[in-house]
This record gives sequence, structure tokens and C-alpha cells, in this order.
Amino acid sequence: MLYIGIDLGTSSVKLLLMDEKGNIKNIVSREYPLYFPKPGWSEQNPQDWYEQSIEGMKELLEGFDPKQVGGISFGGQMHGLVILDKEDQVIRPAILWNDGRTTKECRYLNEEIGKETLSAYTANIAFTGFTAPKLLWVKENEPENFARIEKIMLPKDYLAYRLTGVHCTDVSDASGMLLFDVKNRTWSEEMCEICGIRKEQLAGIYESYETVGTVLPETAEELGMTDHVKVAAGAGDNAAAAVGTGTVGEGSCNISLGTSGTIFISSRKFGVDQNNALHAFAHANGHYHLMGCMLSAASCNKWWMEEIIGTKDYAGEQKAVEKLGENHVYFLPYLMGERSPHNDPDARGTFIGMTMDTTRADMTQAVLEGVIFALRDSLEVARSLGIKIERTKICGGGAKSPLWKKMAADILNVKVDVIESEEGPALGGAMLAAVADGAFGSVEEAAEKIVRIVETIEPEPELVEKYEARYRQFKEIYPLCREVYPKII
Ligand code: XUL
Repeated sequence: MLYIGIDLGTSSVKLLLMDEKGNIKNIVSREYPLYFPKPGWSEQNPQDWYEQSIEGMKELLEGFDPKQVGGISFGGQMHGLVILDKEDQVIRPAILWNDGRTTKECRYLNEEIGKETLSAYTANIAFTGFTAPKLLWVKENEPENFARIEKIMLPKDYLAYRLTGVHCTDVSDASGMLLFDVKNRTWSEEMCEICGIRKEQLAGIYESYETVGTVLPETAEELGMTDHVKVAAGAGDNAAAAVGTGTVGEGSCNISLGTSGTIFISSRKFGVDQNNALHAFAHANGHYHLMGCMLSAASCNKWWMEEIIGTKDYAGEQKAVEKLGENHVYFLPYLMGERSPHNDPDARGTFIGMTMDTTRADMTQAVLEGVIFALRDSLEVARSLGIKIERTKICGGGAKSPLWKKMAADILNVKVDVIESEEGPALGGAMLAAVADGAFGSVEEAAEKIVRIVETIEPEPELVEKYEARYRQFKEIYPLCREVYPKII
């Protein structure tokens, strides 16, 4: 049997083909445009996701027998608002997870409804990228569109709908909508009321490894598949990445260095941190997790390399970085504002500390270090809750860089377990499809049988000490800049 995992990302969709033993047979990816119609806004066209996923599946299956495909599932960019009318047509472009237009709506939710109330209903507070504030934004700014909404969906759920005709979502992705009672794994009636929507406008809820339907006959025919290919609900990309890296037990940790940067801590029990600085979400294995999310991670490096210094030679630039722990330049990676833990859409990317002898390599190093320092901000929140994190897995595009992985070990002072494939969400998606099809008894069993650690990067004590001092300096910079950022327009 073959299983397809679809990682519906922000810059591209990545598709992975896996056999029933967990061997990766093929990987392809296809890009689609990302639109920034106004500063801080971020949108995509759901039709592009669907078309590129279908074309990607055709390419993925070249040289394989499509009739062997037993299941398809997803890891999807989270929080995006996709709205459908009564003919199931998309009403407006999707508003994405890194869109910052909802400052006013978040203020209303966090201050007028109140953080405590939100946390009691959903286990979370409002962040600009979450789905509920976006609904309020549409209600206020595009009332004609709001009035036409028949279904409210998340990005990967739109794909599942196009493939099966079923309006569905899964517990991990639903957790990021601020409409979901995470503890009880059900929609929050109270939040529906606050947002002026009916529960029927939301999709049916499934566990990530449950089957929602089979691929529609005409699509199965187009792809050469049988008419009984199961589609499993799948997960938000971070929960799917956790599955793909085997981050499923109590207290195990995964770092994702993708467009966003996340630190994901799996837990068997439901729990919330006192200030809601970390997200408390349902996990794809039937349990829960805590997560810190920074809005720009590998995208900072991409921006620095491709837009600013104008090269694609990532490895070459990183070779010139030699003075680990000794850089005098700092970079605050807030190119799209920041979510965890600052919750500040006005924050901006900031270089500080340059002198006449600063080199290009120092600046490159500062960008890479700044991303890990910012991840450490979330790790420190977890540590303050008494959660001991001594080792972590790592995935995402940034995990291809040996230098970045070493910085993660030294700056976070954790052992970094490198796994055979850094294709977190796509592999996790394929694993969820295999569980839905009965190839494995549970998500844990699939993780145990499939995920292999190939290397462990130990933190180097001398660098840990140097980076400890540098992290303390890093932490002082944001509070000093916070008042200035909103004035920079
Ligand atoms: C998580 C988040 C991002 C997106 C990226 O809360 O917003 O990691 O899921 O695709």
C-alpha cells in the first residue's frame, strides 16, 4: 500500500509518498503565490492550493501504481480563514496565519471579552493570526461577504472538502481557531455567539487519524486511483510535523524551522500556562500539546539571503560564519510582527550592534542566532512551568543547515536529535493516512516503527555559556524597542 501526505505550506505544497512500512518513495513540491495586499496582510487563493495539490499528486505518482494508494492526509498551514457560500464557492481570498490586520478585533476579544473568559472557553487568548478575530474583521469590514458565509474552513480542510465533498476539520487545527473548546474537543457555543456565527457554519470535527471520506469518483479517476482511497482528517502542520518526527510522548519536543518557527511540546494531559503565552492545543495523537510560534523563522534567513544580500548560496554564506558565541550584532526576527511570546503585531525586524568592522558573515550569523534566541523566549515560558526539556527533534527547511542545528543545541542548551527525514508535516500526514487505513494501530505505533534518529547534536558547554550571556542581552532589546515599533509606519 502507498500513502500520500500533503503538507499545505505557505510558499508551496509538498507531497510525500510513503509505503506501509514508512519508507519514503517520492517527494515533490509545487509553489503558489502569496499576496501581501497591504503591509501586514497575507492572503492566498484556495483554488491555487487545490490545483497545485492535484498536479503535485500526479507528479508524485509518476512511476508508481496509483491503484496502490490506500490513503491521503494532510499537515496544513494553520489558522487561515477560508469562507464558502451556499454553493461551496470561495467568497474571498484566504486570510493567512501570518496576517496582522486584526489588531482591533484582538483588542476587543482580549480586553472587552477578556483573556480569562477566552481562556476558559477555548484554553487560548486572541492572537492576530487566529481565525476568530479574522471572522470579526470580515463582519466589520466586508459585511456583504460575512452575510454570504455558509461554511468556515481551514486551509487543509478546504483540500479535504474538494477531495471528498465532506466539510471536516481535525482537533489540532480547530484548536487554533479560537472557536474550539480544546479541553473537551468540541466547538465552543459561547465563542460562536461572540463571533456572530452559527455552529452549523463550522465543519464536522474528527481526530486527525480518523477517516472523513473517500476520494470523489471523478477525482480518483483523474488521478488513476481506485474509488476507495481513504482521506484522513490530518492535522495542523505543527501537530503533523510532531507526528512525522515522533514527538508524541509526555514532554517530548520538536522544533520546526519553516516559514514560521515553532517549539512544540507534546503532553498526555490538558494544560494551559497562566499567561496563555504558549498555545494550548489538541495533538494529532488524541492527546494535547503546548506550542510557541514565531511568525518569521527560516523566512528571515530567506529574506536576508535572497532579498538583501542577493544570493541563493545558503551553505556558502554560512561557511563564512566562524565566531560562534562571539557576535556583537543582534537581529530581532520580527519581520511580520511577533506572536509567541510577545503577541505584538507592531514588532519589526531589527539589527543592532553593528560597528565599522562588522562583516556580512556577522550579519548572517545574527539572523540565524536571532531566530533561535526568539525560539528560546518560548522555551523559557515552558521551562518556567516546570517542564524539563533536555532534548528536541528538529524539522523544516532550516533543519537542513548544520550550523543552525548547532546553534539550536548551544543556544537552547538541549540535545538536538536529527531524524532521517526533516519532512515533518508531509511525513506526518502520510503517517496519519496509514493509521486511518489500519496499517498501524495508533499514531504512537506508527511513530515508533517509522521515525529513526540518525544523529544527536550535543550542546557544547563553552558555547552554551557564551550564548547564555548573549541571550540575556538579546532579551533586553525588545522591551526597549516596543514603544517605538508602532510609530514606525
Ligand atoms: C502555528 C502557526 C504556523 C503555521 C505555519 O500556530 O501559525 O506555524 O501553521 O504554517
